[in-house]
Amino acid sequence: MTIVLATHNKKKRAELARILAPLGHDLADVPLSDVEETGLTFEENARLKAASGCRETGLPCVGDDSGLCVDALDGAPGVFSARFVGTHGDDEANIAKLLDMLRDTPEERRTARFVCSICCVYPDGREIALRGTCEGRIAFGRVGTGGFGYDPVFLPDEAPGFTMAQLSPETKDKLSHRGKALALLAEKLMQGDTGVKVIVLPDKGAIGQAVGDLICDLVSQKQDAVLGLATGSSPVPTYQRMAARHRAGEASFQNVKTFNLDEYCDLPEEHETSYHTFMREQLFSHIDILPGNTHFLDGNCADEAAESERFSRAIGAAGGIDLQLLGIGRNGHIGFNEPGPSFTGAAYRTALTESTIEANSPNFVGSDIPMPHYAMTMGVGQILQARQIVLIATGEEKAKAVKAMLEGEITPRCPASILQEHPDVTVYLDPAAAALLADTPRTSL
Ligand code: GLP
Repeated sequence: MTIVLATHNKKKRAELARILAPLGHDLADVPLSDVEETGLTFEENARLKAASGCRETGLPCVGDDSGLCVDALDGAPGVFSARFVGTHGDDEANIAKLLDMLRDTPEERRTARFVCSICCVYPDGREIALRGTCEGRIAFGRVGTGGFGYDPVFLPDEAPGFTMAQLSPETKDKLSHRGKALALLAEKLMQGDTGVKVIVLPDKGAIGQAVGDLICDLVSQKQDAVLGLATGSSPVPTYQRMAARHRAGEASFQNVKTFNLDEYCDLPEEHETSYHTFMREQLFSHIDILPGNTHFLDGNCADEAAESERFSRAIGAAGGIDLQLLGIGRNGHIGFNEPGPSFTGAAYRTALTESTIEANSPNFVGSDIPMPHYAMTMGVGQILQARQIVLIATGEEKAKAVKAMLEGEITPRCPASILQEHPDVTVYLDPAAAALLADTPRTSL
């Protein structure tokens, strides 16, 4: 993979090239426009640079921002480190100002840290954001001639008695803020493109637009694409986008086949609360799909095993599912695969949990039939056979399930966690659903 580095600093370029080469990545040498560092944090500035470079080149782009945070100065100079005196990059004047401000500060209160944020932005909107820190103290005068910036007055805890400017480049790489952030980046890049991709967008509408476009693009490349579809509120904006693209003459679904994830039991399929009705109202009646190409499980089947077999055969005859759209339950369910002792395989009849009954009951307010307690659902194994999976989750009530799915152990107690093992999964989140993630690639498309 070719990566762009958003900097004019030759030392940084050489450092990154050294790390990327053994991982099989090249560093592209493309001129980039200057980006104004208007962020209030190192991470924001790193992201600004990376996002701008990515937009300009269409290639993955790495940006960084780093600086010195002094405790006695409430974190200053921070993001202003390189322009502490006003002009950019005047190391001598910056150091003089710092030493002067700390003139009366005793040794024990001269604690400080170098911080480096690195952000890698990919053209599909994914993002990796990492941070490295180096704890230390501010010396009373300059010592050493190596490095740059505040190095001659920074005494790293990990190299007692030396300033950063006295260390060999190898030692500095090991303990410096940038060295640590780059090591984390190397680790991430080594993991490559495997694993779940996470994209955080500002709101439901933006997600619907992105996923709707993704599906329309797939359908225009493969006119007889096979889609696995979901119900619930999460995919509604996606369906609206698909309908809008169809109305605009930009997408035709005439040769597309669909398979829905699930359907309630003990509910006539023409009932207003059935998933058959939901799909007709939210999508099928707004696009040119042929009714015969839309497939559902029969929630009222007399023979569960035969129905499961029929559905599997129909998916097989269609050539398998190209793209499976999913939502996630508050308890981590996908389709109606509730938390349980083991992962399921093909379609089956399942008892719904309290949590799901509570979550879906509002859809049955005013209905002459109460919310069913059973459903037919595609099994987890069947879902995993889709070539590509896209999961949408929005709202804070999904945050715990999202964290368990992406960062928890793979367990049938959280059925969605199995998605960690699928080679092509993209999860679209709004900020509320992403709020509990420890390691979120935050994204701006
Ligand atoms: C239902 C569906 C699931 C869906 C989930 C989340 O129970 N069977 O397929 O993902 O609820 O629904 P919502 O998107 O409304 O939160």
